[in-house]
Formats: sequence, structure tokens, C-alpha cells
Amino acid sequence: MTPRRPAMAAAWLCGLLLSLLALTSAASAAEADGAEGNWEPLIRMPTEKGGDAAAAAASTAAEEEEQEVGTKWAVLIAGSSGYGNYRHQADVCHAYQILRKGGLKEENIVVFMYDDIAHNILNPRPGVVINHPKGENVYPGVPKDYTGHEVTTENFFAVLLGNKSAVTGGSKKVIDSKPNDHIFIYYSDHGGPGVLGVYLDISHN
Ligand SMILES: *[C@@H]1O[C@H](CO)[C@@H](O)[C@H](O)[C@H]1NC(C)=O
Repeated sequence: MTPRRPAMAAAWLCGLLLSLLALTSAASAAEADGAEGNWEPLIRMPTEKGGDAAAAAASTAAEEEEQEVGTKWAVLIAGSSGYGNYRHQADVCHAYQILRKGGLKEENIVVFMYDDIAHNILNPRPGVVINHPKGENVYPGVPKDYTGHEVTTENFFAVLLGNKSAVTGGSKKVIDSKPNDHIFIYYSDHGGPGVLGVYLDISHN
């Protein structure tokens, strides 16, 4: 119809070809980068298994990666004592049960608690510790690694640093961790800016 139409069609076709060409070269560039292993489509945690790139790797590499994730450890500490602070030790006992249900081994969980709640004269149900009005007994099975006067800042740091010789009393269980291990710390007591309560002393900063 108009004399200009063939020219427009030619320009459009040319543009389409250029676009296709650009797409093809981008795809091959990405492929090349992926093959070299310096381009990852996703950001993930070092502990997470890789996606596309890692899937291409040999299965033995995946197995090695799994081993490198390491052991999970936990230090649970209730800094207080006395029935009035019931909740601190109850929460530590509850945390212990959750961790065990989640697959941690007893040997990898270190518990600090004064242990004067379960058999306290004020406890209407001797031997029972709950952390919810209708909750189940969370006391059975909780290891008594550091109780009473063994619940100190010094013992806490010695356990965390894996220094058995610095520990006074207790089970001598310490965090014997390796570079790829993870350590979960749960602390329950009173505190404020720059101050945390721990039985017999107050730990600053
Ligand atoms: C472990 O504790 C002892 C006693 O406090 C100390 O002499 C030693 O230097 C500690 N070891 C390490 C590796 O920190």
C-alpha cells in the first residue's frame, strides 16, 4: 500500500535477528561461566547444598560436603536459682528436650542449671518441671553437667572454649568442637545493657 512498508519490514526483521543473536551469545556466555564454576545462580549459606552447579559435580563431592557441615553443639544455661526464678531453669529443660527431639546427642549438649526446682519444697508436684501450664514434664533426662555452685561464669567460658582443665567441678563435659561445627547458646536469666546475671556473680560485658 504505502511505498515505505517494505523498508519498515526489513528494519523490523533486522532488529529481531539482532535480538536473537544477542540472546544466543548471552546464553553461551552463561554456559561457559557455569562450566568454569565462577557463576552461581543463587546465593546460599555455606552449609547449604549447592543447586545447579553442585548438582553437576560428582556425588562423592556432595558426600564430602555433607561431612563438612559438622556437629551441632549446644550450651544451655540458667543463671539464676530459687523457686521465684522457676522459668529460667524450666526453659533450659524445655530447650534440652527440643534439641534432643531435633536430633542432637546428649554428649553434644552441656547444661548449666542450679537444679533446685524439681525437688523444691514449694513444688506441688515433686520431680516435675513444666514450662507451660498444661505442658509435659521437661525435667526427666536433662543432664546435670553443672549444677549448684558449679554454675559460674568461669565454668561457662571454660565449657565454651573447650578447656577441660579450666573447669571446676561438674561433669567436665565441654564443647569439643571442630572448624565446621555449629554451637547454639541459650541463656536464661535477668540481664540488661552490658550485664548478665549468673549465679554467685554478675558477668559484665
Ligand atoms: C585452659 O585453662 C587453663 C587454666 O585456667 C589455662 O592455664 C590454659 O591456658 C587454658 N588453655 C587454653 C588453650 O586456653
